[in-house]
Amino acid sequence: MGIDGNRQPDKTGTIEVAVPVVAPLSIGPLQLATPILQAPIAGFTDLVFRRLVRELGGCGLIYTEMVSAGGWIKGNIPPDRLVGVEDEPRPLGVQLWDREPEMVEEAARRLADLDISVIDLNFGCPKKRIMGKQGAGAQLLRDPSTIARMVAATKRGAGEIPVTAKIRLGPNSDQITAVEVARAVQEAGAAAITVHGRTARDGYGIPVDRDRIAQVVEAVQIPVIANGDVVDGASAVEILKYTGAAGVMVARRCLSAPWVFREIAAVLQGQPIPSPPTLEQQREQLLRHHEQLIELHGDPFGTVLMRKFAARYLGGVSGAKLFRSKVTVAKDAADFRRIVKDLFPTEIDLEMVVEDQTLDESCQ
Ligand SMILES: Cc1cc2nc3c(=O)[nH]c(=O)nc-3n(C[C@H](O)[C@H](O)[C@H](O)COP(=O)(O)O)c2cc1C
Repeated sequence: MGIDGNRQPDKTGTIEVAVPVVAPLSIGPLQLATPILQAPIAGFTDLVFRRLVRELGGCGLIYTEMVSAGGWIKGNIPPDRLVGVEDEPRPLGVQLWDREPEMVEEAARRLADLDISVIDLNFGCPKKRIMGKQGAGAQLLRDPSTIARMVAATKRGAGEIPVTAKIRLGPNSDQITAVEVARAVQEAGAAAITVHGRTARDGYGIPVDRDRIAQVVEAVQIPVIANGDVVDGASAVEILKYTGAAGVMVARRCLSAPWVFREIAAVLQGQPIPSPPTLEQQREQLLRHHEQLIELHGDPFGTVLMRKFAARYLGGVSGAKLFRSKVTVAKDAADFRRIVKDLFPTEIDLEMVVEDQTLDESCQ
C-alpha cells in the first residue's frame, strides 16, 4: 500500500488538499523512479513513441507492444516489435504472449541476453485471434495452473531479470479469477502483477472494478499495479487510494497526452502540475515524431504509420477536427507536412476531454 498523507496541488498548481503519495515501487531488484508505468499498447508503443514518453518524463517503466514468443522462436527472426530495444535506454520492459511454457522460456532467455529490465507476460488480451485460435492472452485466466507454469518457465529463461504478469479480472463476469490467478502468479515467482480492472468480455464503456483490484491487493504480497481509466493525477490518486495498489499503469490516455506521466508524478510528489506543452510545442513534437518514423521505416510507410498517432493529438482543442480528418489520410511526408503547416491549430481552447473511449484493444 505504502500510501502516506501528503498534499495535492489543484489544477492551477496550488497545493491545497491532503492526499496520498505512494511509496517508491520496486519490481524485484529494480527500483523505479516513479510508480507510474506506460502500458504495452499493440500498434502504438513502438521505439519512437517510447522515446517520446521517455523525453517527456515522469514514467517509471516503459513497455514495448506485446510480442509473440512462439512467433519469434519458431520463425527464428527477431520481431519487428523489438526494433531498437537493444540500444534503448533502460529501464525497459518487454511483454510476451504465448501459451507454451517452452516458448516463453526461450524468448525470456533471448531477452535476458539483450539485458531487458523486466519481462511481462500477457494474460489479458481479449482479442479473438489470441484467445480463441491461440488459446492465449485472457483465455488463460481460466487456467491458473498453466499461468503458473508460464511464469515459472519465463523465470527460468530470464535468470535474474524480474518477471511480471498483466491480467484482467477474468474471462467474463461469471468467471472472476483474478485473485486465484494472482496467487498462482506470485507462487510461481513473479515480481509484480498488473491488474486491468475489467473482464475480457467488458468493453471500455464498463467502469473499472476497483473493488476487484483491491481484492487482488489484499490477496498477494507482491506489488500490484492498478490499470484502467487512469487519465490524470486525480484519477491516479483515486485508484491508488481506493485499491491500495503500489503503482498505476496508463494506456489510452498517454496516446493523446504522453506528458500525462509527468503530471501524475507531480501530483504524487505533492508538486505543482506542470503545464501541458503549448500548441507550438505539440506541433514540433508531432513533426519530430513523423520524422523519426520516416527515418525508421521510410516514406510513405512512415507517414502511414504516423496517421494513427496524429489522429490522437489535440484532444479537446477546438478547431482540430479538420486537421484530424486530413492528417489521417496524408499520402506521404510532403503531404503530411503541408497538412500540419496549413491546419494544425494555433488557438488554444483547452477543454480537456478524454476522447480515448473509442479506441479498442486490438492487440494486433
Ligand atoms: C489499441 C490497444 C492496444 C493494446 N495492446 C495491449 C498489449 O499489447 N498488451 C497488453 O497487455 N494490453 C494491451 N492493451 C490494453 C492496455 O494496456 C490497458 O490494459 C487498457 O487499455 C486499460 O488501460 P487504460 O484505461 O489506461 O487505457 C491495449 C489497449 C489498446 C486500446
